Amino acid sequence: MKRTIVAMPGDGIGKVVLPEAIRVLEAAGFEAEYIHSDIGWDFWCSEGNALPQRTIDLLEKHKIGLFGAITSKPKDAADKELAPELKGKGYVYFSPIVSMRQHFNLDICIRPCISFKGNPLNFIRKTDNQHFEEPNVNTVVFRQNTEGLYAGVEWTNPPQAVRDALETHPKMKAFKHVESKDMAISTRIMSRNACRRIIRAAFEHAKKFGYTNVTVCEKPNVLRETSGMMFSEAKLIAKEYPGIALWDTNIDAQMMWLTKNPETYGVVVAENMFGDIISDAFAGLIGGLGFACSANLGDEVSVFEPTHGSAPKYEQLNPSIVNPIAMILSAVMMLEHIGEKEKAVKIKDAIAEVVLEGKVMTYDMLKLKGGPDVFAQGACTTQQMTDAIIAKLKG
Ligand code: NAI
Ligand code: MG
Repeated sequence: MKRTIVAMPGDGIGKVVLPEAIRVLEAAGFEAEYIHSDIGWDFWCSEGNALPQRTIDLLEKHKIGLFGAITSKPKDAADKELAPELKGKGYVYFSPIVSMRQHFNLDICIRPCISFKGNPLNFIRKTDNQHFEEPNVNTVVFRQNTEGLYAGVEWTNPPQAVRDALETHPKMKAFKHVESKDMAISTRIMSRNACRRIIRAAFEHAKKFGYTNVTVCEKPNVLRETSGMMFSEAKLIAKEYPGIALWDTNIDAQMMWLTKNPETYGVVVAENMFGDIISDAFAGLIGGLGFACSANLGDEVSVFEPTHGSAPKYEQLNPSIVNPIAMILSAVMMLEHIGEKEKAVKIKDAIAEVVLEGKVMTYDMLKLKGGPDVFAQGACTTQQMTDAIIAKLKG
């Protein structure tokens, strides 16, 4: 049966890398119909909604989405660029990717940070004055994707009812003399059920793929309630997985250990913002944004996307210079999710071979400053990287 995939290129380089991923999927023999669908800045400007209802309907119907990237701009720019006939009608910009995660409760975000052998961007560590070693980073970050600090419950100049409720907490004494108009509040709300779901997903992944440890990366010594709940739930769930060690690190210390012993960590699980931070940090060890892929999973709908944004400064470059691997790896995660294991392995092996050979490299892999002159310095185009991967597909 032919699958239907909702293809949401979005803005900027999202429009460049998504077609490349589809090219690889097709070359690997994955048969699907791709329904192009609208998301991003243009639809904010023309319709006052960056995630139109028709896109939500398509995802609802077909369940699987491939997403490129979107552009978000600050409030002033959002208001300014809105179509004249929509101005002053109460439209408020909201990030479509955050909306999508919340609408479909895509609460499990998986961000694998696994180094490819031979990638010149891999993290190396000095052992003595002459020698370096390259740790084999193989970490998968599980980020709670809908709650916590990114849930959007926040105010500048909080309403009196909010202020009154907060005043019942003894620590609010410190803010007694701050006028509400001079006060900004962002909340970190977490529910036990969501904590349990992300922790269980992390342990299940560890079990399935043979990881021997799951690390809760939070800050329970300071964020005693929210991080505390994550860790206490993790301790309960860990009992069901006797072969897997439960570790806990504080987010700040983890950032330091990142360069000391990153190869130690298997699965890492964290709240929304901490998961965002720690997954970017680990991605930096394995090649950065050109290699960072992700899955957003809900019970019904799943969306796969590179973690990079729309890179507007490279949008107009023709031929394009950006690395399509993060998007292609996101498509691989989609294949794994829907049970197309063989094709997933085939594509991953092809990427590994291209990286190991080191003949075809995008500008980021050559550590060049991006621009139209990168080709003269040996970089390949986005399309040439895709072609090289396709050429290595076996079978
Ligand atoms: P960005 O990820 O677009 O770019 C950051 C840096 O990484 C830039 O130097 C860019 O050139 C480079 N880069 C990104 N993807 C690359 C690739 N595939 N290959 C090689 N180099 C790559 O983040 P930035 O510049 O902070 O944001 C640009 C826009 O993207 C903003 O409007 C932002 O709101 C949006 N954004 C959207 C995301 C999403 O759609 N999930 C995530 C992050 C940012
Ligand atoms: Mg991020």
